[in-house]
This record gives sequence, C-alpha cells and structure tokens, in this order.
Amino acid sequence: MSDRLTELRRSVEQPPSGFDWDENAWRDAGGRALSVVAAASTQWASKRPSPEDPDAILKSFSGPLPRRPVSFQELVNRIEREVLPTSAYNGHPRWLAYIMGSPTPISVLGDFIAAALNQNSGLWRVAPSSTAMEVQTLSWIAEMLGFPSAAEGIFVSGGQMANIVAHAVIRDAKTPWNVRDLGARGPDGNAPQFRIYASSELHYCHEQAAELLGMGRRAVRKVPVDERYRMRLDSLSQMMAEDRSRGDLPIAIVGTTGTVGTGSIDPIPQLLTAARQEDLWLHIDGAYGAFATLAESCPTELRALADADSVACDPHKWLFAAIDAGVLLVREPGRLERSFAFHASYLETADRGARVDFLERGPENSRPQRALKVWLSIQAFGRDGYAAMIDYNIRLAAYMEGLVKETPPLVLAAPRELSIVCWRVEPGGIDGPALEKLQIAVIEEIERRGIAMISNARLRDGRSALRACITNFRTRAQDLETVVNASAEIGAELAGKPPRG
Ligand SMILES: Cc1ncc(COP(=O)(O)O)c(C=O)c1O
Repeated sequence: MSDRLTELRRSVEQPPSGFDWDENAWRDAGGRALSVVAAASTQWASKRPSPEDPDAILKSFSGPLPRRPVSFQELVNRIEREVLPTSAYNGHPRWLAYIMGSPTPISVLGDFIAAALNQNSGLWRVAPSSTAMEVQTLSWIAEMLGFPSAAEGIFVSGGQMANIVAHAVIRDAKTPWNVRDLGARGPDGNAPQFRIYASSELHYCHEQAAELLGMGRRAVRKVPVDERYRMRLDSLSQMMAEDRSRGDLPIAIVGTTGTVGTGSIDPIPQLLTAARQEDLWLHIDGAYGAFATLAESCPTELRALADADSVACDPHKWLFAAIDAGVLLVREPGRLERSFAFHASYLETADRGARVDFLERGPENSRPQRALKVWLSIQAFGRDGYAAMIDYNIRLAAYMEGLVKETPPLVLAAPRELSIVCWRVEPGGIDGPALEKLQIAVIEEIERRGIAMISNARLRDGRSALRACITNFRTRAQDLETVVNASAEIGAELAGKPPRG
C-alpha cells in the first residue's frame, strides 16, 4: 500500500459518531417518541383544533443553525414544549375546514414503518415488496370504485398531483402529434388551442395542470353550473360547438364528484355520453368524493365514475390516511408509461419485463412507500368498515344541515350532496358588505376561540358562506351542535343582536 493510501486508510478509521443507534437506543427513543405521538393523537377534550397564538409561532422556529449535537431527549422535550402546542390538529373532532381526513392511528404507524424501511418505490429492483404492495393497493382501490381490474394507477402526493398527472396522460393520448417530443405548439408551431371542459366549481389544480403542461390556463373552459352547482349540459354543448367551429382542439371533460366548495356532483352519466359522442377523455376529479361510492347513501350519479377514462382520488381524505396519499387510476393499461417512461441510461441494470417500475408511471423518481399505510388501513377496516364510516359522515352532515335549518339566524346556503354543509348567518338588520364581512368574521372568531376549524365557500352568486366538511371519523353529533350554535351566537353577538334573532 502506498504511503498516501495508508494515510487515507488511517483517516477513515474513526467515523463521526452519533448517526446510528443500537436496538436498545431505538427502543428507548422510540418509546419516548411514541408517547409524543399518542399525546398528539388523543386528549381531544383538552386540545384546540387550531393553535392559540399563530403569530407567535414563527418566533419559536427562528433559532440559529445548531453547530453541536442536541440529545434526542432534549429534542423530544422541544417537540412537547414548542411543537405540540403550536400545531393545528386536523384529527380533532371539530376539524371541519377544507377537505382533510382525520388520520387513523394505523395509517400514522404505517408511515412510521414506511420511513424505517425507506423503500425507494420508483424501481422494482430496489423496492420489490413496496412495488407489489402498491400494485395490490391500487387494484383494491380500483375495485372499490368499480374500475376494471386491468386499470393501472400510481400513488402520488395528493389529489392535486393526481389530477396534474392525469392531464399529462390526457394531453398525450388526445393530441394528434407527438406532444412529448414536439411540445404543445405542435410540429409547425401553430397548433390549435387545447380545450378541457370543467365546471366553474372546479379545483384550481386543473388550471395549474394546463399551465404546467404548456397548454395554457385558457385551455380550461369553465362551464357554468346550475342551482345545484352541477355542470350545465346545455352550456357544455354550446362551448364545445363554439370551440370546434373556431378550430380549437377539445381533448377532455373533467367531471367533479364532490366539488371543493359545496360538494356538488356533476352529472357523470351525461358527461360520459357527451365525452363518447365528442371523442373526448372523461376524467373524474374524485379527490374529495370518489370513495363516497362505497356508502349506502351515495348519490347514484357519483357511482357512474366507474365508467370514466380516469379518476383521481385521495386516500388522505376519505380513507383517513395520514398525509400524503393521492391516487390516479387510468382505465387503459399502458397510458401512464406512454406519458412518463424515460429509460434513463443509469437505470440500465433495472429489471424490466413484466415487473412495474413506478418511476415510469409518474413524474417522481425517488418516491416514498405511500401505499403501505393504505394497504394496512384497507385490511384493518375492510371495504365494509370504510363504507360504514363514510356513510356515517354523510349522515352527520345531513343532521347538521337539519340543525342549520332549525337554528335562527342561520340559513342553509347551498344544497348538500355529500358531507359538506354551507350556511350563512343572517341576523337581520344588516346587509350588503357588512353582512358579507360578518360571515368571514364568524369563521375567524370560531377559530380564534378554539371552538372549531371551519372554512368558507363562495356561493354561485358571489356571496360567502360558512362551510363545514366532515371527513373525520372522530366527529360526533355534539360537535356539530357546538359549531352550529356557536355560529348563531357569535354571529348575533358580532352583529350586535341578541342571540337567536
Ligand atoms: C375536488 C378536489 N380536487 C383536488 C384537490 C386537491 O387535493 P390535494 O389537496 O390532496 O392535493 C382537492 C382538495 O381539496 C379537491 O377538493
């Protein structure tokens, strides 16, 4: 060995310490970490859904870069002192804001185990069991939604990414030139304007997808909705005819099964007919509502999503999986690979053939084992367990809707289809901008007082409403009574009226 090499050998004799743990250290630290996890996941009566002083939080997280190691014990103490009290808890029984699923304990532990295994789930060769588990979980989800067993899919970070990936697949499937090679401007640089039809209640991710994929935001045509916030078929036909006569390139209709605002459901059977007549792709944005198909009380129109070309759904919403877990299913096998496969040279040792490499089905190379927590959950609760809990959430929302109707000065503001209830506080004597401000002020005050987390909806006529979404296995009737009564009382108080009009 040369002197240089001997010297180098000596310099690597003593590794920096502290990076690894033996089994006892894992058990000690793990036990401590689990007590934090249990505290974060129970004791709801003594917790607020949202932190008390949000403005102070940034200060807690503003220290200098640590130079020296801090013990795990001290770090856990810091979590207990600074992180637990400043967190917002979407697992709280009165977390009813936006559309967030309360995370089941088993899915939380699933992520913990997935992190320990650290499977990089893009390549079969480096993550065989993770890949097989993802394939199986996707096929269970396909079966839940009534999709054929040959359908293919992928786990992604959420509904937004599932929809973005769907739009890439649609664009590539429906463009007469090779858009992956030539881009959206086409072979001669003067390609027609792409057109995608979605209701005016669409989630913004569809416009974002059109931007990211080079089709331009204008590709998305927002079709007006009817009084039930459903896409109007007459307007859809008219827009498609106009676009075709202008020489545009319609490629898809997006139906939403559970809009983010009011939870409305587009007329899926009719959208399917329109898509078939016009040779368009029918994609379903089921990020919120797709799994409602399991529930006994599911509107039949929603179940028609089973016949669509693709569906985006979110296990981290109504399958109550810990964030993150979104899924895209595509009916025709091979479509995802056609849009995403790259065959990079450094992956030549990767095993090909009949096995799946998920990096060829989506835009992520390194990927976490998102399927594990959902694989565990589907077995832990079963299809029927999920059906019962989703149905229970929908019944709770029906109860809340009834409560709103019977509680002055509250007014139901939009029809309820699934588990979203929208209402307004109308104490009388105030109107116009003051009444609008009151709606938002009540939402903020309910949050500030630590009663609940609800959010707002924008109604068809532009007015604001209070909005509660129940995708929460912890919510009970009393929680909804608390929220409804609080909104009536705070509304009256802020409007300077005695409670109960
Ligand atoms: C209809 C719809 N689509 C897409 C999304 C985006 O999903 P995610 O937040 O999981 O990315 C949402 C979120 O609420 C949604 O309601």
